[in-house]
Amino acid sequence: MSRQIVIAANWKMHKTSEQARAYIQQLSKQVELAPNELVFLAVPATSLEAAASAAAGTSVVVGAQNMHDAEKGAFTGEISANMLKAAGAQFVVLGHSERRHVFGEDDAFINRKLHRAIDSGIRPIVCIGETLEQRKSGATERTLKQQIEQSLKGITAEQLTTVIVAYEPVWAIGTGETATPEMAQEAHAFIRKTLAELWNQDAANKVVIQYGGSAKPANAAGLMAQADIDGLLIGGAALEADGLLQIINNTHPIVSES
Ligand code: PGA
Repeated sequence: MSRQIVIAANWKMHKTSEQARAYIQQLSKQVELAPNELVFLAVPATSLEAAASAAAGTSVVVGAQNMHDAEKGAFTGEISANMLKAAGAQFVVLGHSERRHVFGEDDAFINRKLHRAIDSGIRPIVCIGETLEQRKSGATERTLKQQIEQSLKGITAEQLTTVIVAYEPVWAIGTGETATPEMAQEAHAFIRKTLAELWNQDAANKVVIQYGGSAKPANAAGLMAQADIDGLLIGGAALEADGLLQIINNTHPIVSES
């Protein structure tokens, strides 16, 4: 079955508005995507407006890296879904491993954000993934199942089809250590099977499941060749437009040379 392909760059805490504009100008000039392929940029909130206006009319989709679940209120330093949307975000990354492990976010909080994002019309990318300790102790599948059950709780099968799940093994993020394509495929197949059990097979078949964790030009094609890997969430290797272009170029042939 043919699913959407979503190649996403996560800029993390990098790039001013000016740098965002320059990146998007370069990217949008050179990238050519297949009809079922999308390129997403998760940019810092302060660069959203500039990035969204630079991306307008191009095939580049701009989104955010995090949000709060409340509609509004006394949450100093936080940003709501409506604010992100008004600034031009079309998607939002939720539950990234750095949010879970550095800022202590749990599945219940991520689940509340998910519902708010869906209600606000922002497409969610929900990140899940096991730590090295969990993998070594044979708890990978249990961990993934629990994260799916809790962070995606309460959504309909129809809503599920719009959610992107990013499988990002914590031990592979920013470490240079990538899951092998076979290891990643095994986890992705397990995630899809779990989605089918908890919702239904038809909905599960439509869910875009991205791999993230030291994805780079050299390993992108091998990962994307796997049956259940429908995209990539890339940090370090996509910090420059050239890196992202190279990854897109390596994973499919329809990219112009200019
Ligand atoms: P990395 O980051 O590609 O630098 O490992 C991926 C991510 O954090 O989404």
